[in-house]
Amino acid sequence: MYICQKNWQKWVMKYKKFYEKYLGEKLKVCIIYDTKRGSTEQIAEWMKEGLLNAGIKVDLKRVDRVDNFDYDVFVIGSPIYWEKPLKSVVNFLSENKEKFKGNKVAIFVVCLAKLFGLLTDRHVKNHYLKPLEEKVSGSLVGSGVFKGWLKKPDYNEKKNVIKWIRGVVQESQK
Ligand SMILES: Cc1cc2nc3c(=O)[nH]c(=O)nc-3n(C[C@H](O)[C@H](O)[C@H](O)COP(=O)(O)O)c2cc1C
Repeated sequence: MYICQKNWQKWVMKYKKFYEKYLGEKLKVCIIYDTKRGSTEQIAEWMKEGLLNAGIKVDLKRVDRVDNFDYDVFVIGSPIYWEKPLKSVVNFLSENKEKFKGNKVAIFVVCLAKLFGLLTDRHVKNHYLKPLEEKVSGSLVGSGVFKGWLKKPDYNEKKNVIKWIRGVVQESQK
């Protein structure tokens, strides 16, 4: 029984290593974001950490610093202020629509409405995510909503962020 379990663990590790190496060699991910008070930047950094730890190549860029589009997957995020994603991010998507065609794009927003769970789900989808999603509709592989904060970082959100970004990468391989 013990030997069996050990063998099984060995195969899981082998598969994990192969999978991470394969993804790492194949994929280049770019995470693009804007922020006013830093929480979206922190969340984007957690995403980067989550991918690097899985052996995936990733760059992190603020929206006004994007100078090349030589990536397979783009992950683009904005905080929500006064019921809207930031103009800088919406404009970036509009201006570069053509460049995303044929690539995979995932969208995420950071907001406080997430605190209210199901009550605000529809509102978040229609007013926060949709203005970003509709710019890249043909390339969309995922959408995420993360709990932001006003002062102190919410470290509980980190595991959700990492789970989501790894799911996005898997989805973009299909
Ligand atoms: C002036 C102001 C307006 C905001 N408006 C909204 C809003 O309409 N909906 C929402 O869910 N969160 C709202 N928030 C919360 C922010 O989305 C949240 O604090 C987010 O983490 C900010 O991201 P940033 O730190 O990257 O700028 C607002 C926060 C501030 C300070």
